[in-house]
Amino acid sequence: MGIDLFAGTAYATRVMSGRPPKVLIFDSGVGGLSVLREVRRALPAAGLVYVADDAGFPYGALTETALVERVTGLMTRLVAFHSPDAVVIACNTASTLVLPGLRAALPVPVIGTVPAIKPAAERTTSGLVSVLATPGTVARDYTRALIEAHARGAEVTLVGSSRLAGLAEARLRGQPIDNSAVEREIAPCFVRRDGQRTDVVVLACTHYPFLTDLFERLAPWRVAWIDPAAAIARRVHTVLYGEEAFERYDDEGDEAPVAPALPGRAEFTSGRPPEPALVAALARHGLLCAAD
Ligand code: DGL
Repeated sequence: MGIDLFAGTAYATRVMSGRPPKVLIFDSGVGGLSVLREVRRALPAAGLVYVADDAGFPYGALTETALVERVTGLMTRLVAFHSPDAVVIACNTASTLVLPGLRAALPVPVIGTVPAIKPAAERTTSGLVSVLATPGTVARDYTRALIEAHARGAEVTLVGSSRLAGLAEARLRGQPIDNSAVEREIAPCFVRRDGQRTDVVVLACTHYPFLTDLFERLAPWRVAWIDPAAAIARRVHTVLYGEEAFERYDDEGDEAPVAPALPGRAEFTSGRPPEPALVAALARHGLLCAAD
């Protein structure tokens, strides 16, 4: 899975007029940029607004009640202000909790990001799958229900890390990070059982794709790291344009002629100016800071 399915085809007509759609992408920090870059590839002409709730980071440490109240309040204000055609909650920690309430509260389709357990269970040959996420995501009933529904034949190890999202933030902000800390955090993902070894690890936090090169280097053996970002971007395309249009996009892929993308906007709820390294990272993702 990895995307939370939403029957949003009713909204497709809203953007059929040729006007480029506006998509608001939200995360607790800069991890959601891993989803934004795939949305940009799938919808090159879309106007993108990226909002990082850095004042609330890390979401992995918030109680469920605090998280629901915070995200619902923020998203209600952000949607009223930006009037997007669709919203992407590019955060597993929030999506595994807030989606039903957000969909009831917001007048636009909401696409979530939830642990990609189904593709992982389909891919494993050893039957040993690990899910690397925040402590919040691994504790959710939603995550357990996904395992129950899609991974019954596999043994799933849930690994909650309270450090990795912060390390990914630091890296994107140009700060040095401690490889031994990364190694310690991923170590519980690697399980041996009855002569078999874990062969698939789900990246169930949008920050982690920014550490994948280190994960690969520090892993005790090779595994497939599953990042659902491209599937989420395809879902955004389908919600905005419908299934048929998506098949065309899928066939033509990068070859399809597209209008040049305008830079998107990045906003930080703390109001703190981002470090120069982060400004550069945002620019590489086609984003200008709201204060620019
Ligand atoms: N990027 C968020 C996720 O996908 C989590 C980071 C945090 O703890 O705030 O779960």
